[in-house]
Amino acid sequence: MPHYKLAFLGFGNVGKALAKLFLEKRRDLQVRYNLTFTVTGIATGRHGMVIATDGIDLERALEADDLSKLSDEPIAMDTSDFIRKCKADVLFENTPVNYQDGQPAIRHIEIALENGMHVITANKGPVVHAYRSLKTQAEKMGRKFYFESTVMDGAPVFALFRSALPAAQLLSFRGVLNSTTNMILTRMEARESFEQAVAYCQRIGIAETDPSGDVDGWDAAVKVAALVTVLMDVPLKPQEVERIGIRDITQEQMELARREGKRWKLVCSARRVGGDVQAQVFPELVGIDSAMYRVEGTSSIIQLKTDVLGMLTLVEDDPGPHTTAYGLLADFVNAVTA
Ligand SMILES: NC(=O)c1ccc[n+]([C@@H]2O[C@H](COP(=O)([O-])OP(=O)(O)OC[C@H]3O[C@@H](n4cnc5c(N)ncnc54)[C@H](OP(=O)(O)O)[C@@H]3O)[C@@H](O)[C@H]2O)c1
Repeated sequence: MPHYKLAFLGFGNVGKALAKLFLEKRRDLQVRYNLTFTVTGIATGRHGMVIATDGIDLERALEADDLSKLSDEPIAMDTSDFIRKCKADVLFENTPVNYQDGQPAIRHIEIALENGMHVITANKGPVVHAYRSLKTQAEKMGRKFYFESTVMDGAPVFALFRSALPAAQLLSFRGVLNSTTNMILTRMEARESFEQAVAYCQRIGIAETDPSGDVDGWDAAVKVAALVTVLMDVPLKPQEVERIGIRDITQEQMELARREGKRWKLVCSARRVGGDVQAQVFPELVGIDSAMYRVEGTSSIIQLKTDVLGMLTLVEDDPGPHTTAYGLLADFVNAVTA
């Protein structure tokens, strides 16, 4: 029975949700895939790190304020040291995203691959800033670099093209990919001001104190860049995505849309034009004839147009760290059973 040693780099919302899901799915993994696992390392920024070659008690780790207290084994000096010393087969990289250059996550992933690990991440930075080099490095090492949860959380967008749609060519896509702006627009339809809707999103923990990454369309542009880079094989930086956020949508425009039976959505799109790709994030009015019309609150949608199937639509209802964790777990099973 194959046994895998796992390491978690980043143990925040996503890392902890993943640990809980591994505990829940332990039996399923064993019965359905003949897979067993132990977690040999967990590292954070300010909450310590632990390495235990005979396995960490995940229940205790989920409760711990300082992970360093969970083991008597010597603690690695820094994150790079941790990756080298944790002796894992699979590294889950779930540290915060750096939109500017993808670091230090790119370096984390390079070190893990150098040390013969599969790497699985929900972090968009390495995908938009280093996809080709990381993929090449993984292939050279005979390992996998998977990142399903970077776009639409657990919904299988990348895996769809990797395995379920062989030889299909993605011609274009359209979708609503940023949960926070969709929630803000949904709240504004219920006559809240933009500021009230942003404050609501901050209260429920889906918007940052500085919400500009979402409301100015940057997060959406990063997701578009990731999809174009990976699925259309055209390297694209978020800065190259034409982008307008939702800041300037007024209550008057909301009212007008309501009277016309339409809704504002922050629409992400890309399409092939000759050998190039045109990519955009723009607020758009959509009518009842659009599948995007019914996507409310934090839910998301993508419509994928391929050369073989016409239009294929995926809708993800009410995502959160639990669905992000599922994308990571699915990547793990796919990586080690491929
Ligand atoms: N939340 C979601 O639903 C979601 C959805 C899709 C993708 N993602 C992506 O998933 C990743 C994790 O998100 P999250 O919500 O879990 O973030 P989070 O709650 O802020 O957790 C981040 C974790 O990374 C640790 N960390 C920070 N810098 C580190 C470093 N240099 N070395 C080692 N550990 C470090 C933090 O440690 P301390 O706690 O000690 O500071 C914390 O444990 C992000 O890239 C995010 O964009 C999240």
